[in-house]
Amino acid sequence: MKILTILGARPQFIKAGRVSREIQRQKAEGRRLKEVIVHTGQHYDANMSDIFFEEMKIPKPDYYLGIGGKSHGAMTGQMIEKIEEVALKEKPDWIMVYGDTNSTLAGAIVASKLHIKLAHVEAGLRSFNMKMPEEVNRILTDRVSDILFCPTKTAVDNLKNEGYFIEEEGRRKKVEGFGKVINVGDVMQDGAMFYKQFAKQPQFTNHQSPIINHYILCTIHRAENTDDPDRLKAIFEALNEIAKEREVILPLHPRTRKLLPSTFNLHPNLIIIDPVGYLEMVWLIDNCLLVMTDSGGLQKEAYFFKKTCITLRDETEWVELVDIGANMLVGADKEKILDTYKQITNNQSQSTNNYSLNLYGNGKASQKIIKELLEYE
Ligand code: UD1
Ligand code: UDP
Repeated sequence: MKILTILGARPQFIKAGRVSREIQRQKAEGRRLKEVIVHTGQHYDANMSDIFFEEMKIPKPDYYLGIGGKSHGAMTGQMIEKIEEVALKEKPDWIMVYGDTNSTLAGAIVASKLHIKLAHVEAGLRSFNMKMPEEVNRILTDRVSDILFCPTKTAVDNLKNEGYFIEEEGRRKKVEGFGKVINVGDVMQDGAMFYKQFAKQPQFTNHQSPIINHYILCTIHRAENTDDPDRLKAIFEALNEIAKEREVILPLHPRTRKLLPSTFNLHPNLIIIDPVGYLEMVWLIDNCLLVMTDSGGLQKEAYFFKKTCITLRDETEWVELVDIGANMLVGADKEKILDTYKQITNNQSQSTNNYSLNLYGNGKASQKIIKELLEYE
């Protein structure tokens, strides 16, 4: 069975890396599997791309398309054209896509047009905000997928509500014209637990090492925050306030670095560093007091490492974390950010102790994914 994996953005290297390892493992056990990896080039800086392949020992891409730093239309369109060429040459049994980026959508469109079976990992997630480019990408990708690998029960329920399957006598029944929906758990959980043993402290130039379990780990890159000057300003003003009290470590996405006004006065404790590799990131998560982010993946990783997360968005796809009190949605409202931060650090919040819940499966999502593909008729 030949799988053509399409990836291009940082979180996809992390997710697909775990599945690639599983493919290698099963190959070594004698299963007839071949993976061909296509890197679209959506993320291209060394610390947004190469570092993950090197540190995480992910097989190097077989094709590098070099399509990054463009508008949505140009990027997605050029990716479709190039992925189609590769797919026609490689003739895979499956195209496998991850998450909700433009690379995901491009891979999905090629698969559907060429009648190649499509597997979507992280299917069924919804923010119900159609202004998010990711929401459009994931809805369209789900619709043309043959197998939808959901990470959570919520994702399965979302698909049920959209008519992907019906339940009869407690059994899931596929609806004609829609793909097969399976809850396999979250591949990011597999990865976080595996790479924790290799965590490494990042180098901090011109700074002391941060105080363990005292600093805030923050990331910001979401379009709705970076492209709206008022939201970006409110978030950075809140971070500056917090920095008066403790260090805020911010590995900054290049998108945000380009859009943050150079005139903004950063507090010295608001420590901006370049994006870090995954092993450094795992170290930063494991040793922080709490996480503040608009990232999708980092919200879950906070939970895997038993850290409270303040989410700088108005909604989230990971609603189960909000339900158990592990995640607090504050949007880009300066006062709300600061109030929530104070509640948590003063121990007045309803922050959870429920970290033992199995919200994201049992760490075997990658294994289940390969098994399902091998058994699919
Ligand atoms: C993309 C995904 C988003 C995901 C994020 C992960 C879409 C629509 N968005 O957002 O869902 O959460 O990746 O990080 O696919 N840039 C660089 N160097 C790089 C990469 C990006 O300088 O290596 C800069 C460029 O100016 C680029 C901008 O960042 O135009 C935005 O990059 P892009 O890939 O379009 O979107 P992300 O914000 O990274
Ligand atoms: N990440 C990383 N280095 C960084 C910032 C993030 O390795 O400097 C990891 C993070 O731990 C998570 C993934 O990148 O595993 C999340 O990617 P991102 O926030 O870019 O995208 P999203 O998950 O929001 O789509």
